[in-house]
Amino acid sequence: MLKIAPSILSCDFSRLRDEIRAVANAGADLVHVDVMDGSFVPNITIGIPVIRSLSSISPIPLDVHLMISDPIRYIKEFADAGSDIITFHLEAASDPDAVISLIREQGKKVGMSIKPKTPVEKIFPYLSKLDMVLVMTVEPGFGGQSFMPDMLPKISAIRNYVKSHSLCVDIQVDGGITAKTAALVADAGANVLVAGSAIFGVGDYQEAITAIKEAYHSVRK
Ligand code: DX5
Ligand code: ZN
Repeated sequence: MLKIAPSILSCDFSRLRDEIRAVANAGADLVHVDVMDGSFVPNITIGIPVIRSLSSISPIPLDVHLMISDPIRYIKEFADAGSDIITFHLEAASDPDAVISLIREQGKKVGMSIKPKTPVEKIFPYLSKLDMVLVMTVEPGFGGQSFMPDMLPKISAIRNYVKSHSLCVDIQVDGGITAKTAALVADAGANVLVAGSAIFGVGDYQEAITAIKEAYHSVRK
């Protein structure tokens, strides 16, 4: 099932509550929250106190994308703050299975992400333990970058693996998603679409989300 996850990285942070309500009313399914530590990625964004505040006001679940080194150190705090889905990077964890278990123990959904340069096969051993896999379609760190079309075969490879092993895993894409690229990732097999600038960067959120949904459904029902 298609889910749209606006990334608040591109929203007006001085009006965070209104921005989240606006995208929820415009048909968003999840709020995508990008947490960056200035170490795993060359940028710093927001963290636990902001997520705690958002969890009390967001009408839709919080999809927390951790771009932080050694994520196991903070899983409990992010869970307690009200994250609904916690996604960490395979490249950032020395013991990915331990991170998966810890997120599960907190009663949260588990996502694992891979950066563009990470071979897709690396994620296969974990797929049966995940609720969601996040294929980065830009180098993580900043909003507003261009979609990398050479990530499409990775999405297809994961979709094929999921099908052939009868798994139930959402396939999320993040980076450069617009109505145009939504059709490409839909065709490759993604079903959870993150979009920052293509939603918050335009005036009419309803129109922006509808355009992405329509592009997706033009390829997949
Ligand atoms: C980038 C973040 C993305 C980012 C996407 O590292 O993970 O979620 O906000 O922004 P757009 O949709 O503008 O590429
Ligand atoms: Zn993200």
